[in-house]
Amino acid sequence: MAEARENWNSRAGFILAAVGSAIGLGNVWRFPYICYENGGGAFLIPYFFALFTCGLPLLIVEFGLGKRARSGAPISFAKIKPYMAWAGWLSCLCAFIIVTYYCSIMAWSWEYIWHSFKLAWGSNPEVFFNDQVLGKTAGPGSLGGIQWRLLLGLLLTWICIMAILWKGIKSVSKVVLFTVPLPVIFLIILAIRGMTLPGAIDGVIYYLQPDFSKLTDPRVWLAAYGQILFSLSLGQSVLIAYASYLPEKGDINNNAFLVGFINCGFSFFAGFAVFSALGFLAMEMGLPVAQVVESGPNLAFITYPTIISKLPFWAPFFGVVFFMMLLTLGIDSAFALVEGFGTPLRDATGCKHIKVIILLCVIGLAIGIFYVSRGGIYWLDIVDHYINDFGLVTIALMECILVGWMFGGGKFRKFVNESSELKIGKWWEICIMFITPLVMGYFLVSSLVKGIMEPYGNYPGWANWAGGWIMMMAAVGLAVYFGKRFRAVKVAVMKVCPSCKIRYEDDKSFCKKCGTRLV
Ligand code: PFF
Repeated sequence: MAEARENWNSRAGFILAAVGSAIGLGNVWRFPYICYENGGGAFLIPYFFALFTCGLPLLIVEFGLGKRARSGAPISFAKIKPYMAWAGWLSCLCAFIIVTYYCSIMAWSWEYIWHSFKLAWGSNPEVFFNDQVLGKTAGPGSLGGIQWRLLLGLLLTWICIMAILWKGIKSVSKVVLFTVPLPVIFLIILAIRGMTLPGAIDGVIYYLQPDFSKLTDPRVWLAAYGQILFSLSLGQSVLIAYASYLPEKGDINNNAFLVGFINCGFSFFAGFAVFSALGFLAMEMGLPVAQVVESGPNLAFITYPTIISKLPFWAPFFGVVFFMMLLTLGIDSAFALVEGFGTPLRDATGCKHIKVIILLCVIGLAIGIFYVSRGGIYWLDIVDHYINDFGLVTIALMECILVGWMFGGGKFRKFVNESSELKIGKWWEICIMFITPLVMGYFLVSSLVKGIMEPYGNYPGWANWAGGWIMMMAAVGLAVYFGKRFRAVKVAVMKVCPSCKIRYEDDKSFCKKCGTRLV
């Protein structure tokens, strides 16, 4: 027997959970760098443009889809066009692929919390990270066995995810009361520490000094769209799943605006914490800021530990705060990604919540072992690249076509406005029918051309094939299989004429043949 569907116990619970999934590692180690690299303060123009023309419109689409269908991505899509269920499954699979490597980064953070007490990275954090923590092999061709301490961290992470999702949405609403404010507090501590260090101002100037000439480069605009998409956790079934638990009267538009602004505000603020510390490091080393700037894992696990070691007092304390921040930032993104697959799986199979969660956590952990092997980081990098450049963009494009063209932008706007305090205007339709799909299409084609011309990173062609193209094709194949396998989904979303038994799509009300009301 299928379990009854729960609701969020408060509006704050839903908003915090959505904000928690959006605010992740990317806000700290991706946004500040992208901003600095693409015109500093001037980057805020394309960034906000992307937020208004793609981020907020798609947030409204995903919240609306989930609430309308009261189900995860596949059924939400199938309720509009039954044959589109596969695209919904693809978004769930992308979410699951992401969480399998996202958790291995959290495993690194667990280990660094431990090392912070003694500043164990010593005078060479780069060698420490590569040789001791990761035990890096020469390339993706040699996996070189498991790093056991990382495996322990991975296990701990998956146990936390399982415990948090154990009671479903009810426990999530409680946990986010801690896991969302905590990293904000940690970030404030780090920003205050950073801004009071010598050299901090130089770093901040580097971060925000506007270079308006960059705005003529289309790559800068694409970077803004890419960051908005990833940062707001769009195209990954997560927000659709969360919105499916909204009560009948739950708001859509206002919530979307809140989530979008809180997330982008956090990213902007994180830039101050990161660049003030980089300014300090540059001054200590007698180098220009440009030479110490880093992003991604190198920023968090090499550059930041170097900064921590140079702090005048309480260095271990700030180390623990920094890595606790990474961990708390990551955890709500991680369980959101699991729920993004869990919700539709439960809806499609009718299996018990607990069973689905245990199954996903065990499979996620098993796949994660691969990423905590000594060659795992290479694969993490490859898979992450392809999922972001192709997976998310494809799904966002599908969502625009599905809602804007197949369902009808005007009809969907009416639907979301009915249950929202804030009414959205015609601009939303223009974004969802034209601007966003055009940008996503351009994104996809340019990534494809780039991908075909040169293999990503300096990895051999076969590794690009295995971690990129074949992995993506397998995900599409599996999504199509799921779409067919769970025919129940298809049937469940069709209406039927009680007298002539003809099936119709969900949005029809009367039988074309005999005029009887459909049920
Ligand atoms: N938005 C997260 C970040 O910026 O780090 C990444 C992410 C988390 C994407 C959760 C998707 C998701 F469901």
